[in-house]
Amino acid sequence: MDPPLDFLKSFESAVDVIKKHITEGNTIHIITHNDADGIASAGIISRTILRSGGLFKTTVEKRLDDVVFNRLAEENPKIIVFTDFGSGYLEKISQSLPNQDIIILDHHLIIGEKPDNIIQINPLNHNIDGSREIAASGVCYLLSKMIDERNKDLAHLGLIGALGDQQDKGNQKSFIGLNIFLEEEAIKNNQLKKKVDLIFYGYETRPIHRAIAYTTFPFIPGLSGREDNCVAFLNNVGIEFKNKEKLRSLSDLNEEEKRLLFSSLSNYMVSQGCDSSSVHNIIGTVYTFEKETPSTPLRDGREYASLLNACARMMRPSIGLSIVLGDRNESIIEAEQVVEEYRRKIGTYLDWVHENNRIKELSNIYVLDAGFEVDENIIGVIASILQGQGILKNTKPIISAANSNDGTTKISARGTDFIINAGLHLGKIMQEAAELCGGSGGGHDIAAGAFILQDNVEDFIRRVNEIVSKQSVR
Ligand code: C5P
Ligand code: C5P
Repeated sequence: MDPPLDFLKSFESAVDVIKKHITEGNTIHIITHNDADGIASAGIISRTILRSGGLFKTTVEKRLDDVVFNRLAEENPKIIVFTDFGSGYLEKISQSLPNQDIIILDHHLIIGEKPDNIIQINPLNHNIDGSREIAASGVCYLLSKMIDERNKDLAHLGLIGALGDQQDKGNQKSFIGLNIFLEEEAIKNNQLKKKVDLIFYGYETRPIHRAIAYTTFPFIPGLSGREDNCVAFLNNVGIEFKNKEKLRSLSDLNEEEKRLLFSSLSNYMVSQGCDSSSVHNIIGTVYTFEKETPSTPLRDGREYASLLNACARMMRPSIGLSIVLGDRNESIIEAEQVVEEYRRKIGTYLDWVHENNRIKELSNIYVLDAGFEVDENIIGVIASILQGQGILKNTKPIISAANSNDGTTKISARGTDFIINAGLHLGKIMQEAAELCGGSGGGHDIAAGAFILQDNVEDFIRRVNEIVSKQSVR
């Protein structure tokens, strides 16, 4: 599927403006969101400018707020490109930054009218589902290719945001919509291969027990993050994880062994209370980045996205950016250490949630109020995992909250296909409830967030519970 013409046309002025600033030798300021999609997006734009001989400065931000806008106004660059956020802050950006060219490359809910001094590229303006059919990294790839056709070798990077944002919503966890266009370009460029199989990270490259333990989506209670338990599990079901002294990877298993592994894992997950849709999530389309060295975590598209997410959420986004820019030395070693810490943190938080029975069920929502116990940068990942385990009912979203040291609370909301089909849009709910509490919120129908003052958490949760009952057609 080719991108619709009206969508492609919306890139033209951005292409001209970026080329003009490159020619004039101006530093292009890129401000991006701190997750896998944000880092892949900023990486693609930075690399594009670098290849065209231009100058750039890339900054990663947790949120767009007055602190960021005031700093940018003071720096007063000639051009700012916002990637993977911005559409929710049109008026604020226009008012705070009236003196420069502004480009927004986003796929989030658009809030308010677009002021004239902003160029905005957002698939939602063209009837394209920005939550499922293309991520910000895909938008950045299309722009990059329009700046210089030779950048088509970056197509696989355009899919990283889609994997990080869980846009693999087609049959067998495949891409849909414009992500298929990117996939086809990446395959044509010999950057990407795909096949349907067990979905654990490092299909060809990691020992089986580690591949299962390292995978965070789907998160299997008792096995994810627990190599020792994975070894015991494989022994128990009778799958050899060593061939003589060589550890076997998933690609070394024959069809019968794979079937045995799938059915044993399914039975185990059901025994842990997971529902059938989360069990099916262990099979899907495996995306292999063909030009990456087989022994690295960049070989598997989902693992690459997860690594960037870890760098972002652990406040080490520059490591992720270096990797997208092409560093294959120091950055990989550092990133692997960050991923280790990130996994440990996630494991500790999940144990805390379960041991203390922290998830409360209200009439219309689940609530996890983690106070200061969970890092505000990781609460979104915890909410995604809890939601994806298939243990909570799929009829209610989970609203999670983590306090920050500055007196605010970070909210992360995650929904299910079932409730989205019933009419819920979590981005709109977060926006409405946050505004009523003096905060700000937004995002996608299925995954959204907000920032509010700590004193308002209870009020916020009460309002969300009320709005959900009104919005839903259940
Ligand atoms: O800002 P952004 O769009 O990039 O973030 C979306 C977030 O929501 C990601 O962390 C992604 O993993 C999460 N998500 C989710 N479940 C979905 C869709 C997205 O947890 N079904
Ligand atoms: O941070 P988290 O992963 O929970 O964010 C979920 C989604 O909500 C992301 O797409 C993020 O960009 C969006 N969000 C937003 N406004 C906020 C907080 C989060 O649009 N204030």
